[in-house]
Amino acid sequence: MISKMICSSARLCALAAGLSVLSACKTPPPAPVDQVAKGREIFFNETFGGNGRTCGTCHPAENNFTLDAAFIATLPPDNPLFVAETNAELRKNFENPKLMRQFGLILENLDGFDDLENKFVMRGVPHVLAMRTSVNSKQGPRTGWSGDGAPGDGTLRSFATGAVIQHFTRTLNRVAGVDFRLPTAEELDALEAFTLSLGRQQDLALPLPLKGSVAKRGQEIFLDNRLGKCNLCHANAGASANFGGGNLGNANFNTGVESLPDQPAKLTGEKIPLDDGFGRPGNNTFNTPPLVEAASTGPFFHNNAIETIEGAVAFYSGDSFNKSPAGQVLAASDPQKVGIKLDATQVVAVAAFLRVLNAVESIRQSIELLEAGAQEGSAAREEDKQLLRQAVIKTEDTIRVLEAGGLHPEAVAHLQEAKELANKAARSLFERPSLIKQAIERQRNARAQLVDGF
Ligand code: HEC
Ligand code: HEC
Repeated sequence: MISKMICSSARLCALAAGLSVLSACKTPPPAPVDQVAKGREIFFNETFGGNGRTCGTCHPAENNFTLDAAFIATLPPDNPLFVAETNAELRKNFENPKLMRQFGLILENLDGFDDLENKFVMRGVPHVLAMRTSVNSKQGPRTGWSGDGAPGDGTLRSFATGAVIQHFTRTLNRVAGVDFRLPTAEELDALEAFTLSLGRQQDLALPLPLKGSVAKRGQEIFLDNRLGKCNLCHANAGASANFGGGNLGNANFNTGVESLPDQPAKLTGEKIPLDDGFGRPGNNTFNTPPLVEAASTGPFFHNNAIETIEGAVAFYSGDSFNKSPAGQVLAASDPQKVGIKLDATQVVAVAAFLRVLNAVESIRQSIELLEAGAQEGSAAREEDKQLLRQAVIKTEDTIRVLEAGGLHPEAVAHLQEAKELANKAARSLFERPSLIKQAIERQRNARAQLVDGF
């Protein structure tokens, strides 16, 4: 109680404890600070003495830890994402505001800061969900779109340091201690614990007993190593490759995304240098992302070149993929010498499968949030409200993902009810437990429309 009063918020206590400045929180001794909670605080609130951005500026929880143009359009002009528009020091060679607003693209100087005018790439923001399943490979950790991490050893810890230097600076001098401060070892541990806690903690075991005939056929195509061939690189719709005798972990490939003609961002005429992927100079390979999370986190690929999940699946039947090194390898080991060739109905079926997988995962997360939002006691009330609001947002997501594919209208109807109930639960106090129970029930009803046996 005393520590509560003196520290005024859990955040201050956690930070104070983390920095070993315990005087204000001395009696009674604070509970051991939970790494994940501490990491969450840093992720969403710590600016590292920089330009005002936090990790959550680009990886917002309310948008699946990623950015897209529609979400960016809802932000006020003074949001720190837009520092290049509001801070004279960062007007040139820090971001391209036009490409950020139209396509959610972020500027990065992956090959160093010595020629800001010419040496940069424009990349989309990856969600940081299911990182537990998508970092390890036989060659070491693989983070970021090209898998080479930010400067350093490619680990999640180094990635956070690289992010501060790249995105948090007050001026283009990028002097640590002046333009920002570097995260401490303790902060990096906490950030790593937090990012690893997000989303799925393990891979699925496909096939799932899906109920919709189109999604079911999509799953067959996905898993068929002579047809869709997706499972070779995205085993179990995750981020690990499994061919040539076993699990290769989170591998890199050159799949030819850079060769796509008429990329939306390039149509603007803005300068966009070639992104050469892994290494310095790059070898043109990119790191395989997990697919369970894909349908709700577009646009797709490292350069946000494709807006829809159907378009992303169709990419694999086009020239850019089939002429790429990865496409050629697939063709060479195919009896008919084709890489990947799906017709329109098959493309839509695979996309439907990815939509349904995404919805099943979102429902799992919504139920988790709803259950967590039913804590007892007055101190938990405000926190419960936040959790219930997150469940509402997650459910809206699930609805959008299914509706946009014309899939499972009965499940969508259940989800609409679940959303209303969660909304009511957030507003009510006395009825909250029973409303939460009903909302969970509707989520389960929705899931029962998608898949058997959960
Ligand atoms: C200005 C926007 C921005 C900010 C702020 C930002 N990130 Fe990112 N983040 C990105 C982009 C863009 C990428 C893709 C980077 C790449 O591929 O080179 C990324 C990638 C990542 C990845 C790799 C995900 C994967 O799938 O491998 C992690 C982890 C990550 N960020 C964590 C953080 C942390 C921790 C912070 C805060 C210290 C942070 N980010 C701040 C834009 C941002
Ligand atoms: C040779 C390995 C390989 C094969 C085969 C493969 N992929 Fe990929 N996939 C990748 C890599 C690597 C990326 C990242 C490419 C990039 O951004 O440049 C990717 C990215 C994606 C993305 C974008 C995800 C995101 O979050 O932006 C989708 C969707 C996708 N793949 C679906 C599929 C489907 C469906 C198939 C089968 C038709 C398939 N992939 C086959 C390696 C592969």
